[in-house]
Amino acid sequence: MSNNVVPLKKLETSNPYEELRSAYQSEIEEVDSFIKEKLSSHVELIGEMSSYLIQSGGKRLRPLLTIASSELFGYQGDRHIKLAACVELIHNATLLHDDVIDKSDFRRGKKTNNNLWGNKNSILTGDYLLGRCFEIMVEDGSLEVLKLLSSVSSEIAQGEILQLQHEKEVETLEKTYLEIIGSKTSSLFAASMRVGGCINDKSKNEKEALTSFGFNLGICFQITDDILDYYSDKIAFGKVIGNDFYEGKVTLPIIMLYQKSSESERLALKEMFVRKERTKEELAYTLNLMTKYQVIASCKKRAEHFSSVSADSLGIFPESKEKTRLQELAFYIVNRIN
Ligand code: IPE
Ligand code: IPE
Ligand code: MG
Ligand code: MG
Repeated sequence: MSNNVVPLKKLETSNPYEELRSAYQSEIEEVDSFIKEKLSSHVELIGEMSSYLIQSGGKRLRPLLTIASSELFGYQGDRHIKLAACVELIHNATLLHDDVIDKSDFRRGKKTNNNLWGNKNSILTGDYLLGRCFEIMVEDGSLEVLKLLSSVSSEIAQGEILQLQHEKEVETLEKTYLEIIGSKTSSLFAASMRVGGCINDKSKNEKEALTSFGFNLGICFQITDDILDYYSDKIAFGKVIGNDFYEGKVTLPIIMLYQKSSESERLALKEMFVRKERTKEELAYTLNLMTKYQVIASCKKRAEHFSSVSADSLGIFPESKEKTRLQELAFYIVNRIN
């Protein structure tokens, strides 16, 4: 090649998440209108609170997984729309409860339901969403799917409780952290993918591959979320930065920081976390230490590991654009900004 050949500029494409979202735009619209129809209530306030939450945005990542996983096998029918609605309802119910537990005032760039209507109303609206979700699953009629998604609800609750038990414990092991996020986040990602295998009557092995894709993607997604809680832009992230720190939640950045810190720094971290509250100055001190030990790069490396495991899980399926889209999503998640 002669020196003065100008290389072709790579086409600027949108990111893999945006691609997935635009590929399944009409399906997501169907999911949204199905959810809206299902959430109608004779109690006006419930309608108001649930539609505020559903219409406040959200990436619709879990329903996208259910749809993409169904489309991987060329699914024909409408069960994937209804079951995608179920996974999004479980997710939103979880968020309503989670924002009460975490005292979060801001999500999806907007005030949270607990901020606007208080904790009691938020918790009950979360229960309402779960109740509606169960109705849809019963109407769908598959005991396999009902068992899968109902066990996810209890798995999430177990993960949240396990996390509470390790609150403020800077010595939390990475193994325990992975167990927590495996339950509170990955279980739903895994089930969202598996549903696609169930409704297409795939073999046990194929369902396991889909589950593994979702599970590892969920781990990667939550690690990234926990990084973004320290290093991100509030407007892009749509949540308050430092919330995990102020709440005394020990996530991977703190776990890795503690591993790398000196004796005296460890002591300082320990004392900070056992206190009832942490200050802005203490967050700045912690962020400085994270920079000193390049903790975020180490956390990203971990996330990358899980994203590769996720993408490789689909290796047993023949090449298709649906498969490529999912694998690219897995690699992209590590670099997401919201
Ligand atoms: C937030 O999930 C909860 C976590 C598992 C970190 P998402 O970031 O997928 O939430 P929305 O639906 O897009 O707001
Ligand atoms: C989100 O967990 C809720 C669940 C996955 C159950 P987090 O508390 O870590 O996430 P955000 O930061 O509130 O979205
Ligand atoms: Mg939480
Ligand atoms: Mg939270």
